[in-house]
Parts: sequence; structure tokens; C-alpha cells
Amino acid sequence: QMTFRGQVTLDGPSGTGKSSVARGVAAHLGAAYLDTGAMYRAATVAVLDAGVDPADADAVARTVAAARIEVGTDAATELVQVDGVDVAARIRGVEVTRAVSAVSAVPAVRRQLVDQQRALVASAGPVVVEGRDIGTVVLPDATLKVYLTASPEARAQRRAGQLGITAPDEVAVLAADLRRRDEFDSSREDSPLRPAADAVVVDSTDLDQQGVVDRVVELATSTVAAG
Ligand code: DC
Repeated sequence: QMTFRGQVTLDGPSGTGKSSVARGVAAHLGAAYLDTGAMYRAATVAVLDAGVDPADADAVARTVAAARIEVGTDAATELVQVDGVDVAARIRGVEVTRAVSAVSAVPAVRRQLVDQQRALVASAGPVVVEGRDIGTVVLPDATLKVYLTASPEARAQRRAGQLGITAPDEVAVLAADLRRRDEFDSSREDSPLRPAADAVVVDSTDLDQQGVVDRVVELATSTVAAG
């Protein structure tokens, strides 16, 4: 195992296999792992549980400010809590997935969670951080920035596989959902989804998960050697 001391950012749209890749890279490098999407999802649980309309930005901001959101930084175990309650399973549900774009578009929510992300990274040592704005906003001085993409079809297929869906019309619904969420995340005013100017774009359409992990590990170790 390499001794890697830097920070790797992994950004990109959903359905690219980003989370599995990020965990795999962290394990390879012996680094910590931070899933920032899990933080926006946990904030969304707080909003839904408070009975707040995700479209009501002021109420969302107040609710999230009052919630204690905790995520772990260990690649091997998933810890996600809101006010001390385990929400690791709930954050992956459809209800949260539908509402999370609206919650994550609220600037006060982003400021709060970005501050928390920087604090977690500061105490984590070597780390792989996954999200949408990590290379552009959260860690602009990261050692290596990767932007992971894949064709919309490949992404919908991957999501369908995870959910055990095979019917073509249901896969089409997934693809439409993905596109809608990407458009929303890419066009929002605050920290839109886009590659950092100095990011390496990796297209996972024709690579399996191990292929992508190997590529990112190679980039990380050669970045360190070069730097
Ligand atoms: O990666 P994910 O699907 O768990 O992300 C959930 C949502 O949170 C997604 O709609 C985009 C948003 N998000 C964000 O705005 N910024 C991040 N750094 C991570 C996720």
C-alpha cells in the first residue's frame, strides 16, 4: 500500500459509480473517506421530519441550522446520523432522493455543510472526498481533482442494476429522473455541478468499477510523485 498524504476530490453527476469508486480509492490509499452527498441527504431527512416544504428555503435553512448532522470518515463503515439517530438507510430512499436537490440548493445549507466538510477534512489526514463541488468550492487546493462522468444510458443502467429493475420503461423513468436532477444541480446559482478547471475528467462508461479505481489510484500516486 502506498503512503498517500494528500486529498483526492471526486465530483460528478449521480449514477457514475462515484461512491463505490471513492470507497475503493480510499481503501487502496489507506485514506479516510467523506461522502458529502450523505450530508445533504441527512439534512433532507431533518427537513422532511420537521414537516417543512423543501421548496421553502427560509424554513429549510432554519431547520438544517438546528439539526446535528454527523457523518463518519471511515471508508469501511457507514455512519450517518441526524440528532443522534441513525439515518444511513433512510437517506437512500426515494422520498429523500426526490427532495435533496431542493435542500442542497439553499445557500445557507451549503455554507453550513461546507464549513462542516472542511473541518472534517482538516482532522482526517489523507482523504478522498466525494460530491459535486469539492474540487471547485470545498477544497480548491486538493492534491488531485477527478471529475467522473458516464453516458446517461450507462448511468441509468447502473442505477437500475442497484435497484433490481429490468423493465425498459422503468429504466427510462430512472434515466429521466437522473437527467432532471443533473439539470437542477448543474443550473443552480450556488456551487453548480461542473468540473474544476484543473480536474482530470474520467469517463466510466466503458470501464468497470475496478478499472476506474485503478485509474484514480494511478493518478493519485503519480500526482504525489510529480509533486
Ligand atoms: O451524491 P448523492 O446522490 O448522494 O447527492 C445527493 C444530492 O446532494 C444531489 O442531488 C446533489 C447534492 N450534492 C451537492 O449539492 N453537493 C455535494 N457536494 C454533494 C451532493
